[in-house]
Amino acid sequence: MIMKRDYESRIQKLLSRMTIEEKIGQLQQCGPSLVGAFDVSFEELLNMMFDGRISQEEFGRLMSTAEQDYHEEDLRAGRIGSYNGVGDAATANRLQKIAVEETRLGIPLLFGYDVIHGFRTVMPIPLAESCAWEPELWEKTGRIAAKEATAAGIHMTFAPMVDVARDARWGRISEGAGEDVLLNGAYGAAKVRGFQSDDLSRENAMAACVKHFAAYGAGEAGRDYNRVDMSLQRLWEEYLPPYKACVDAGARAVMPAFNDINGLPCSVNRWLLRDILREKWGFNGMVISDANAIAECVNHGIAADRKEAARQAILAGMDMDMTSNSYIECLQELVESGEVPEYVLDEAAGDVLRLKFELGLFDHPYRTTADREQNTLLRPEYRAVAREAAIKSTVLLKNDNNILPLKRETRVALFGALAADKGQMTGAWAVGAKAEDCVSMVEAFAARGLCWRYCGPDADEAALQAAAETSDVLVAAVGEMKEESGEAASRADITVNAEQMTLIRKLASTGKPVIVVLFNGRPLAIPELHELAAAVVEAWHPGVEAGNAILDILCGDVNPSGKLTATFPAATGQCPMYYAHINTGRPGGKSKFTSKYLDAPIEPLYPFGYGLSYTTYAYTGRKVEKREDGIHVFVSVTNTGGRDGEEIVQCYIQQMTGRRVRPVRQLKDFTKISLKAGETKMVTFVIPYAGLSYYDWEMKEVPGEGIVKIYVGGDSQAELAGQAAL
Ligand code: GLC
Repeated sequence: MIMKRDYESRIQKLLSRMTIEEKIGQLQQCGPSLVGAFDVSFEELLNMMFDGRISQEEFGRLMSTAEQDYHEEDLRAGRIGSYNGVGDAATANRLQKIAVEETRLGIPLLFGYDVIHGFRTVMPIPLAESCAWEPELWEKTGRIAAKEATAAGIHMTFAPMVDVARDARWGRISEGAGEDVLLNGAYGAAKVRGFQSDDLSRENAMAACVKHFAAYGAGEAGRDYNRVDMSLQRLWEEYLPPYKACVDAGARAVMPAFNDINGLPCSVNRWLLRDILREKWGFNGMVISDANAIAECVNHGIAADRKEAARQAILAGMDMDMTSNSYIECLQELVESGEVPEYVLDEAAGDVLRLKFELGLFDHPYRTTADREQNTLLRPEYRAVAREAAIKSTVLLKNDNNILPLKRETRVALFGALAADKGQMTGAWAVGAKAEDCVSMVEAFAARGLCWRYCGPDADEAALQAAAETSDVLVAAVGEMKEESGEAASRADITVNAEQMTLIRKLASTGKPVIVVLFNGRPLAIPELHELAAAVVEAWHPGVEAGNAILDILCGDVNPSGKLTATFPAATGQCPMYYAHINTGRPGGKSKFTSKYLDAPIEPLYPFGYGLSYTTYAYTGRKVEKREDGIHVFVSVTNTGGRDGEEIVQCYIQQMTGRRVRPVRQLKDFTKISLKAGETKMVTFVIPYAGLSYYDWEMKEVPGEGIVKIYVGGDSQAELAGQAAL
């Protein structure tokens, strides 16, 4: 239960002493800007480098002169309430001292940053960690992230991201828990608990800012920032629930998404930010825009200029302006002219002050010290959890003839640049990472004293052949660079690039078994790679303990248990592809006039919920009983293989009829059980009737009706357990 205290009288008392300028200053989040021997903005300089107007060397030379400008004069004038992107105790405390001691009212600063999957101890990317299907783990790694980030002076993280994502072309699928509604909600709520603990005023608790509200993952064509256009039924049934799960878990901040929904940008969407978030869901925390998003409402075409954008945003319920300077430059005039009532400004400033009170910043503005930072970051026990998380995030996708785990005497040749590239192991959004903290596969192999050799990317044909001839198995580390996923990283072709495929083909042509280890931030369409490889291990971007975790699995020290939380298409053209699809009037099949492709299968390469193990499991005794409190589902799971393991048991439903067509499968519950070799456990799920409701054509919430089928098994193609008549 989260500790709740009442600060309302202190907030009102403080507001009564504040000028309009000071209230607006609280709504300004400043992003430190890089300044140096260049007279354009850092962003412009980046663009100049990206589009070749300056060389990388020139960019590097200019960066060597750069330093962060924290706009201290604005801070002293009470025109800054928060900073984004400050990630060290010394800088945070220096700026906090100015705010507390040199501004008229001494209101402390709020420091926010993108601590998405760990801070200095980088954990697996969220899409990876979601494959553990383990809320306890998600909370545990969230707690560690909070301990490290708060030691570095951070008060709020712009996480968890719970955007349901069903189009693998979208680079930000890497930042959330994949395609499923239930899983994103469970993941997000666990992260909120981990980040915030049960008392936000603890020095090692940080506010969770759930994002991106809403439906950012549904951008048309998988293109970042693109339009989102969907029925309200779909929005309520498939995209809003994870944000609500985070609000219900106590998240104290929300970040609206860049995109529009049905033509209205989230940043100025009153229905979203006031009617749903505050009125219906009872949220009383702080709403902070995405970076520059208020100003970008002009690009959207919903506002003629930034002043109009600022007016619409604050009236819609946006409290804080992240780095667009629209509020700080336009709100004063809007309030003085009456276009924005001062009570609206008071509400927004009050939301910011409330969060600062809840964090204990008025009583303890300096929550950390350089010593605490030094003693907290990258502690061995945090690395141990990072290794556990990376192991549990790994998904065994193929293992022909049980080629894995490797035997101790197996001679291994290791290939692929990613096997040695420590910096790539962190994945996108690793703001506190240092490449030297990461363990590569090469380092992990070297540390184990195996019979192995590494054939680097610059090895010539002869070296590759020689390595292959003198080895029993060939391990290839391929996939994506971390820059190929995350923000602004949509891909129109989601396969492994040509150079890597050439390597895979060459290795396969030697006749030796090829084991592929994938490093990637999204599902990949890799049917040829799947065919050529004897084994495929999905490692994602696993964080600081990458190499150790992968070797733990390759060598059989641990038994892989991860299961996919996003469908792997067989071709990019199948995107968006997800298991909870509808049946259509002509479900894809053999005959011509059915819903399918001429040039691609309709099945996925690997389905949602799929993952192999070094042992095998049998599901027996499936049974369904309709009872007072819901539909009870029973199944026995037996470990029929030769070694202990963990199995993620999944329970799906299919409502056969409805007032609108229903998905062919919906995940309704899951659990992870450990089973010793030969052991059997009974698993029971209870599906409450309320969980079967949906929206009819008129947007009325209606109960489930007719026949509902229940499936239980180890992935989304689970077998029928029975049915119930509602
Ligand atoms: C970015 C992202 C958002 C992040 C913010 C602050 O543009 O959209 O997820 O939290 O800016 O860095």
